[in-house]
Amino acid sequence: MPSINDLEIYAQENHVPIMMKTGIEFILELIRNQAYTRILELGTAIGYSAIRMAKLSTLIQIDTLENDPERAQLAIANIAAERLDTQIHVFAMDIAKFQTDRLYDLIFVDAAKAQYPRYMEQFRGNLAKGGVFVFDNLNFHGMVEDPSLTENKGTRQMIKKLRRFRETLMHDPDCLTQFYPEVGDGVAVVGLLRK
Ligand SMILES: C[S@@+](CC[C@H](N)C(=O)[O-])C[C@H]1O[C@@H](n2cnc3c(N)ncnc32)[C@H](O)[C@@H]1O
Repeated sequence: MPSINDLEIYAQENHVPIMMKTGIEFILELIRNQAYTRILELGTAIGYSAIRMAKLSTLIQIDTLENDPERAQLAIANIAAERLDTQIHVFAMDIAKFQTDRLYDLIFVDAAKAQYPRYMEQFRGNLAKGGVFVFDNLNFHGMVEDPSLTENKGTRQMIKKLRRFRETLMHDPDCLTQFYPEVGDGVAVVGLLRK
């Protein structure tokens, strides 16, 4: 059975992006403090964050979405090896095609960064009363603050979108946003005042 440490090593060796330590610890603390049990995760990768969240309590149920078939298969195997398959349900599909009328306490957004505004629109109706969205990578490795850190055109476009999204979150009167730039790769917790 792979340990959490094994998953971290696998991710590092195979360049699979998973949550940074401070980021995952922050989310685990949030789930514990708020007693959240219904979780939707956008971006499973190999199941690392889903496994860590599910291990907090047997009451926790997670739906998690991944469109890379190899990663999704690996996540399913890792989750089964941890005997968490009754708690974590992997949907190997594109987020854009996922539809549900379920309500979630936590919608953890950790997939394509440029799509964050679209994801928020898509799932705002699935947020339970008192629930929150959590977005990771809002710093994008310091590049949102300092775009000169990359010369890549595509990355620059994406960074621009992330900056615009961050500003929208901070100024939208319908959102209650707390931004934690020092946590993980820049994490925001967003509640909705109106849905
Ligand atoms: C940062 S990783 C997720 C890491 C994971 N949450 C963790 O910390 O262990 C983002 C994942 O989102 C997936 N992804 C990106 N766009 C997607 C889409 N449109 N639909 C489903 N999955 C997507 C990528 O393939 C990638 O594995």
